[in-house]
Amino acid sequence: MEMIMQVTRAEHYFDFSKSYLPKKERIGLSQKIKRIQTLKREKNAVILAHNYQTPKIFHTVSDIVGDSLALAREAEKVQADIIVLAGVHFMAETAKLLNPEKTVFIPDLQAGCSLAESITASDVESLRILYPGIPIITYVNTSASVKAASDICCTSGNAKKIVESLGVPKVIMIPDEYLARNVAKATDVTIIPWKGHCQVHERITCEDIHRMRADHPEAKILAHPECPPEVTQLADFSGSTAEMAEFMDQKRANDVILLTECSMSDNLAISYPHINFIRLCNLCPHMQRITLDNILDTLEYDQYEVHIDPIIADKARLSIKRMLNA
Ligand code: 13P
Ligand code: SF4
Repeated sequence: MEMIMQVTRAEHYFDFSKSYLPKKERIGLSQKIKRIQTLKREKNAVILAHNYQTPKIFHTVSDIVGDSLALAREAEKVQADIIVLAGVHFMAETAKLLNPEKTVFIPDLQAGCSLAESITASDVESLRILYPGIPIITYVNTSASVKAASDICCTSGNAKKIVESLGVPKVIMIPDEYLARNVAKATDVTIIPWKGHCQVHERITCEDIHRMRADHPEAKILAHPECPPEVTQLADFSGSTAEMAEFMDQKRANDVILLTECSMSDNLAISYPHINFIRLCNLCPHMQRITLDNILDTLEYDQYEVHIDPIIADKARLSIKRMLNA
């Protein structure tokens, strides 16, 4: 069943790519994809891919696709021996934390995240001293050691729910200042933010929206909650990458502008050919480090395995499990 779905998706991608990929390139691509599929079968491996992976990965070799929350949930259920995480390092760590006995590979160890880099475990300890007794919620876009130092995780898809699940009047939410401020607008709980930002979403401005509205008055504008609150306020909808994708099923829209990473629009444009995706987006250089070539190398040469210190892993796993069970 899984194979049939993959072949269908790959074929759909190849049909679509006829308009912009030369024949020679499509043949090379098809050979690479076949080799990856064969290696996956031989090694009993699955590929989990984030919504920001390029169509060449997202629509062809990946077995499970989704936002950070879906990938964490699916990682818990994986039956294969090997997980290849086509995404950034914190996502591969999350998959490893939820599958300590499985081998988890990331095709490029340098695939980081500006949010994950904005805070360390010792920063979290300092926050505990500064705000005694206030629970610390960490966005999953952090290292395992930051998760280990925190009380519970959240993603952009469940942040409000997690904040309110604690039943307290005040929480600390790290490290994304804008996600924290966006959630604060929607809840009575007081949120103390950290000062981290996503380098992709922080660049989107209110002026961008005003310009796009003037040029495309009919278009629906969707913004990821890692955008500044002034931006999300001007958008028609704000939600995680999965919630943005769901919007296409739930609401009628001919023209859509997604204020997020560019590959998201590229992927949805293939799945929803009747919708015109107008681009106002930035590329994430970390997500872009993952390619079909390094996925192939991962499977050929068993590289690069994700390892987490077992003491940190036990504590970090608890923060993720609390989120998944909330
Ligand atoms: P989602 O959790 O909405 O998928 O996006 C988070 C993100 O920016 C991944 O880097
Ligand atoms: Fe990190 Fe932003 Fe890239 Fe997501 S898009 S991995 S939050 S830098």
